[in-house]
Amino acid sequence: MRFEAYRTRAARDLLAHIPLDDVEYAVDLGCGPGNSTALLAERWPKARIVGVDNSSSMLDRASRTYPQFKWTKAHLAQFQPDATPDLIFANASLQWAFYYDVLAGCCKEAEVWETVYYHSLENHRAMVAWYQSTGLRPFLANLPDDETRTEFMEDE
Ligand SMILES: C[S@@+](CC[C@H](N)C(=O)[O-])C[C@H]1O[C@@H](n2cnc3c(N)ncnc32)[C@H](O)[C@@H]1O
Repeated sequence: MRFEAYRTRAARDLLAHIPLDDVEYAVDLGCGPGNSTALLAERWPKARIVGVDNSSSMLDRASRTYPQFKWTKAHLAQFQPDATPDLIFANASLQWAFYYDVLAGCCKEAEVWETVYYHSLENHRAMVAWYQSTGLRPFLANLPDDETRTEFMEDE
């Protein structure tokens, strides 16, 4: 994954705030390509871990990179775990669903905060590449075909 260290930093920081020693079952809501899910496995190697996302392309990438975890396609507000998870982890995903009120009503503790990260990218092309998988996604999705998308991405 391009910019992996930058993209994973927020998930690492979030994970560092979790005080749990023992986790048997963890869910990564809005798991994306699986890099945040892999961090959960690093921290709790014996845990059963399920990554949830509503994007087939993200789940395809995740399952190719990390075939050892379970991947489920679902909207994060509708996912139903098969048992009570010890941890529901969600990095950079809940903002899509304004989910805090739902979480706060059914968790022992719910915390939400916002952090700004500054990254130094080499040029404007790298900046566009960074946004390609986040803020630009809805714009790219509305373009008629891959050829137009490539043309748009390569436009100086
Ligand atoms: C910025 S990525 C974060 C990925 C990963 N958690 C990480 O820390 O790198 C946000 C992910 O949330 C997913 N997502 C957005 N809205 C969603 C929804 N309503 N239900 C499930 N997943 C959603 C996107 O497909 C994307 O993979």
